[in-house]
Amino acid sequence: MKTCILQGSPRKHGNTAQLLAPFTEEMEKNGWDCGSIRLYDRDLKPCVACRRCQKDWRIFGCPLEDNMQEIFDAVLGCDLLVLATPIYSWYCTPPMKAVLDRLVYGMNKYYGEEKGPSLWAGKHLALITTCGYRPEAGADLWEAGVTRYCRHSQLRYAGMLAERHMGYGTVFMDAEKAERARAFAQGLCGQAWAEGGAV
Ligand SMILES: Cc1cc2nc3c(=O)[nH]c(=O)nc-3n(C[C@H](O)[C@H](O)[C@H](O)COP(=O)(O)O)c2cc1C
Repeated sequence: MKTCILQGSPRKHGNTAQLLAPFTEEMEKNGWDCGSIRLYDRDLKPCVACRRCQKDWRIFGCPLEDNMQEIFDAVLGCDLLVLATPIYSWYCTPPMKAVLDRLVYGMNKYYGEEKGPSLWAGKHLALITTCGYRPEAGADLWEAGVTRYCRHSQLRYAGMLAERHMGYGTVFMDAEKAERARAFAQGLCGQAWAEGGAV
């Protein structure tokens, strides 16, 4: 089983990266292959709504020249997609939003002259996020948006791990957060197996 982790924080060793470490370790302990892509290390342009991706239902088909094809291939090849992002203005960071827009059109061939398939139907999607407010008030809109995105895309929403950052002068990571990250990973492993993995 494969997971593709899209890491959307600009801070390489920041809170989101620290929370991902025990999560990834636990997934690997359970036999999962964890691929990770740092979005801020890639060239990712925003969708320009040309709809060229709707012409051929077998491929990504986006004419923009950047690193998005690599992400499309990694997502298509995984069983579980993990979106890991700090909350910025109650949602994800800009490259994560660009990826979501490029995938919602590139993967869902719904927007041409005839309605086509969702190329990623049945995959699991989970969220890992860190935020400054309490997660109920900091990460709630992000989770609500992604839940609807999953329903629209025929993805299986698998849940969110959200942890609070009390400020840039404080230490973020502690043993409880690490334990919750490991427990979240264990839950996802069990859930994916129970539902039979990817369709
Ligand atoms: C530009 C910016 C916008 C932010 N917006 C929010 C927000 O809307 N809600 C929130 O709870 N935290 C917000 N935060 C706090 C971050 O989500 C939080 O510090 C996070 O843990 C940073 O993760 P990182 O170390 O991986 O970058 C914001 C931080 C920045 C820099």
